Formats: sequence, C-alpha cells, structure tokens
Amino acid sequence: MRRSQINAIIRDADAFLHAHQFYLPPFAYWRPVDWAAKGPEVSEIVDRELGWDITDFGSGDYAKIGLFIFTIRNSDPAPSRALAGRVYAEKVLMSDPGQVTPLHFHWRKVEDIINRGGGTLVLQAYHSTKDEALDTQTPVTVQTDGVRRTLAPGELLRLAPGESITIPNGLYHTFWGEGGRVLVGEVSLANDDNADNRFLEPVGRFPEIIEDEAPLYLLCKDYARYYKP
Ligand SMILES: [Fe+2]
Repeated sequence: MRRSQINAIIRDADAFLHAHQFYLPPFAYWRPVDWAAKGPEVSEIVDRELGWDITDFGSGDYAKIGLFIFTIRNSDPAPSRALAGRVYAEKVLMSDPGQVTPLHFHWRKVEDIINRGGGTLVLQAYHSTKDEALDTQTPVTVQTDGVRRTLAPGELLRLAPGESITIPNGLYHTFWGEGGRVLVGEVSLANDDNADNRFLEPVGRFPEIIEDEAPLYLLCKDYARYYKP
C-alpha cells in the first residue's frame, strides 16, 4: 500500500469515528516527531502493538479485501507475562460495503465482534477440520448477545447495530459491511497478530508500504523505525 493511501484512510476513519462519537486515546495522534522524543514509559504501546493498523492483506485492493483496525488495548499473549488479570484486548475496526476480511481463525484468541453502528455487518462462520481446512458440512452453533443459535456452515449472519457474535477459537470467520460503513468493536482475549492468525488462503497480514509521502501517524509496525527509547 502507498503511505498516501494509508494517510487518507486514517483521516477518513478518524472523521467517521468522531461522527459516531467514538474517541481514540491520546497516542493515536502522536506524530512521527513526537514518537522520536518518547522514552521507555510508552513501551507498552510498542510491545503490545497498540494503535493504527491498516491492511489490504496483501491484496493490492483495500476496497475489496481490507480492514481498518485501531488496537486500543492489548495484553501479553503469554499469561505468565500479562499484567495481573489483564488478559483482554479491545480494537475498533471498520468494514465498508463489500470490503472483505478473509476467512481465518485464531488458535488462542476468543473474540466478540460487535456492530457498534453504521451499516449491517455480514459474517460467515465455518468449523475448521483437524488439518485446519474448511469444514463445509458441520453446522455452527454460536452465541449472539446471550442467545445460542445454530447456523448452516457459511450461512450469512447479518448483525445490525448493537448486535454481536462470539467467535470461539478454531472457528473460521469472514465478514464485510453492507448498506454502509460499519463501526465494528472487537473485545477479545490477548491479541497476537504475529502468531495467532490462521488464514485459509495465505495473506500478507501487514502490508508492504511504499513511502510516497510522510506518515501522518505511525502504524503499529512503524514504531521500530521512529521510536528509539
Ligand atoms: Fe478474527
């Protein structure tokens, strides 16, 4: 992805969040020059990869296969290293109409995916087989806002604003917006995008970036280049 495209996506997403009265923490708005002046007191942001995370999954077509993510809080995936009792994570995502997050599951992370406003969030779920392929035969029983329901494999589940689903580990899922941009919340166990995503088809979780202009704000994968505590 080009940095100019990422900057534009961030500006657009930030305006959408404000329109929905959803506010990001202060570190969202630290500029590269601010990062260069930070010391060890901000190491949690870096170590837990909090912040802006925009991906086209290596597709080259963000509008069709892509996801906007801002990680608000996260903990160490190794329970022994997590701060006492803090084993949770929270993200805000955005899915545009027809913008797909590819089929994947998590070995460890359990996540609730929540439609917090905007359009409809459409989701499909499938069990995984022992060899981590797609199980297209077995019905899927999920919890949706305290209600247990059983879906056919890949059956379209439409979540209106306010509705959510719990995705257990090992359950393949894919989602996209419909009828308008969706403000999506994610509340989960510790998130580890480096080691806990099993995509059905290989993807590039973090895009290669062509630096055609200066970054507006840093993506979580940019910190190492600017932050020298
Ligand atoms: Fe997921």
